[in-house]
Amino acid sequence: MDILRTIREMKDWSARSGGRVGFVPTMGSLHAGHLTLVHRAKASCDRAVASIFLNPAQFGAGEDLAAYPVDPEGDRRKLEDAGTDALFLPDRREIYPQGFKTYVQVEDITSHLCGVSRPAFFRGVATVVLKLLNIVQPHTAFFGEKDWQQLQVVRTLARDLSLNVNIESVPTVRDADGVALSSRNAYLSETERVSARSLVRSLDTAKALVSEGEISAAVLRRAIREIIERERHTDVEYISICDPADFTEREEVRNATLIALAVRIGRARLIDNCIVEAKRCNEPY
Ligand code: PAF
Repeated sequence: MDILRTIREMKDWSARSGGRVGFVPTMGSLHAGHLTLVHRAKASCDRAVASIFLNPAQFGAGEDLAAYPVDPEGDRRKLEDAGTDALFLPDRREIYPQGFKTYVQVEDITSHLCGVSRPAFFRGVATVVLKLLNIVQPHTAFFGEKDWQQLQVVRTLARDLSLNVNIESVPTVRDADGVALSSRNAYLSETERVSARSLVRSLDTAKALVSEGEISAAVLRRAIREIIERERHTDVEYISICDPADFTEREEVRNATLIALAVRIGRARLIDNCIVEAKRCNEPY
């Protein structure tokens, strides 16, 4: 695996590589979810490039930038074992040189869900993703569906700025107990981890209710909240039942509808989501 630390080296590598480059941007502390993205990049492109950059611009004051888990050696080994062809590993000054002044803001869809409690987050994500895409010049970039809103922000960025890249999404990867893989799961104590299972359990319950014919968002939200709040240490930030593309709230489930959650458990802020679709009235039982 080639390791490129400067923008020049990375651009030259991509220009030389020929064929289709698949790109997986990450902030490190890699888990099987990230490696699934790398496997997808390998399967559908000629070369797979990953980046590790802990992006300060997407952390607000008082958030976990300083505490964010890092594992440079482990990450390198995992990427190498997954068959990654190149790793872009810039330092902060390479990405944000002295005097950096240009940020990208995707409007409207960033003021819902996670954008409410993390107002700077998507501006930081959009800015760094645009920079990384300009540097790596991939044919396709891969993002996980666990970060559903981030995925829509990146898709919107690529469409609105006419970027020459395909954005592909990959379903959420879960541990055996159902908890969605996240680098932030490392913050959970043993008992908090047990509480974290309530997120996927509540989503599964909502899915089951919808498949039995329930379409009221209020009823679903209440059922989800009850399951999560029954557990210790949980503090629900939002339960949203909304349009999966623009995140406007829905009173009823119809067509494809997103159920998205953010819950604080101890030091961790966890998110999860699923898509549900109401049964049509004339559908045979
Ligand atoms: O999902 C992430 O890890 C980050 O938000 C990303 C896309 C690598 C941008 O820093």
